[in-house]
Amino acid sequence: MTDRIEIPPAFPAVGDVRGKRVVLTGAGRGLGELLAHGFSRAGASVALVARTERDLKTVADDLPGPVLLFGGDVRDAAFNDAVADGTVEAWGGVDVWICNAGISPVVAGPLKTDPDVWRDVLDVNLTGAFLGARAAARVMAPGGRLIFTGSVLGERPARGLAAYSASKAGLVGMAKALALDLASAGITVNVVAPGWFDSPLAAGWKSNDRLEQSILDHTALRRWGRPGELVGAYLFLASAASDFVTGAVLTVDGGYLLK
Ligand SMILES: NC(=O)c1ccc[n+]([C@@H]2O[C@H](COP(=O)([O-])OP(=O)(O)OC[C@H]3O[C@@H](n4cnc5c(N)ncnc54)[C@H](OP(=O)(O)O)[C@@H]3O)[C@@H](O)[C@H]2O)c1
Repeated sequence: MTDRIEIPPAFPAVGDVRGKRVVLTGAGRGLGELLAHGFSRAGASVALVARTERDLKTVADDLPGPVLLFGGDVRDAAFNDAVADGTVEAWGGVDVWICNAGISPVVAGPLKTDPDVWRDVLDVNLTGAFLGARAAARVMAPGGRLIFTGSVLGERPARGLAAYSASKAGLVGMAKALALDLASAGITVNVVAPGWFDSPLAAGWKSNDRLEQSILDHTALRRWGRPGELVGAYLFLASAASDFVTGAVLTVDGGYLLK
C-alpha cells in the first residue's frame, strides 16, 4: 500500500486506430466522408456503408487504406447483418461500428410535417442505428466500440426539427441503455454529438436565415465547425485511450449548448 497513485509504464496513444476494422455508415458524403478519411489516414481498415454505391466508390478512391463497400439501407436489419458478416468474412472481425447515417427533413412545423416524413427520420436515425448496433454486437469481440452520431439538437431542439430532435434524443437514451446491455460483452457504446458542421445535409439549415442567426448567437465560439475539428472525438472513442468511457455523450459544438 502506498499513498502515491500507480503510474502505468505507458499510456495508451489517444486516437491510435492502426489496424482496426471499422464499419462506418453514412459514408457516401458529408461527415461520413470526413470520418472515412480520418480513420483511413490513421491506419484503420474502413467498411463504407450508404445507399448510393457511386458515392461510396468516389469516397473509396481517395482513401489510402483497405476499404470495403456495402451499398444498402440501414433501415434493413438483414442488410446490417450482411455488412457485419461481409466484414468478418473479409477482415476476420469488426472492432468499431460507427452508426452515422442520418437524414434531416426540410424545416417545417408539425402541421406541415407529413407523418411519413416523421417515420422516415425515426426509421433512419434511430431504428437504423439500433439495427447497426444489433448487427455489430453479434460479431464484436470484447474491446468492441459502438459510436453513434448524435446531435446537439437532441439536447436543445430547434424550431421545425421535431422529428430530427426526437431521433437524436432517442439515440442518447438508446446508447446509454446499450452501454449497460453490452458492458458484460466488453463493448463500449458512446455518442458523438456534433454542433453545426458544414455538409450537404446542413445546406438546408444554412439557407434558413433565422436558424443560421440562432446558431451563431448560441455558439460560444461564434462560428460553424470546421471539418478537421470533428474526427478527433471519434478517433478517441475508437482507441484504447477511451477504454473506460461508456454511455457518454461527447459534444463537439464550439460551446453551442452553453448558452
Ligand atoms: N452536418 C452537421 O452539421 C451535423 C450536425 C450534427 C449531426 N449530424 C449528423 O451527422 C450524420 C451525418 O450527417 P451529414 O451532415 O454528413 O449528412 P449527409 O451529408 O446528408 O450524409 C448522410 C449520409 O448518410 C447516408 N444515408 C442516409 N440515409 C441512409 C440510409 N437509409 N441507409 C444508409 N445510408 C443512409 C447518405 O447516403 P445515401 O443517401 O446514399 O444513403 C450519406 O452518405 C447524421 O447522422 C446527422 O444527423 C450532422
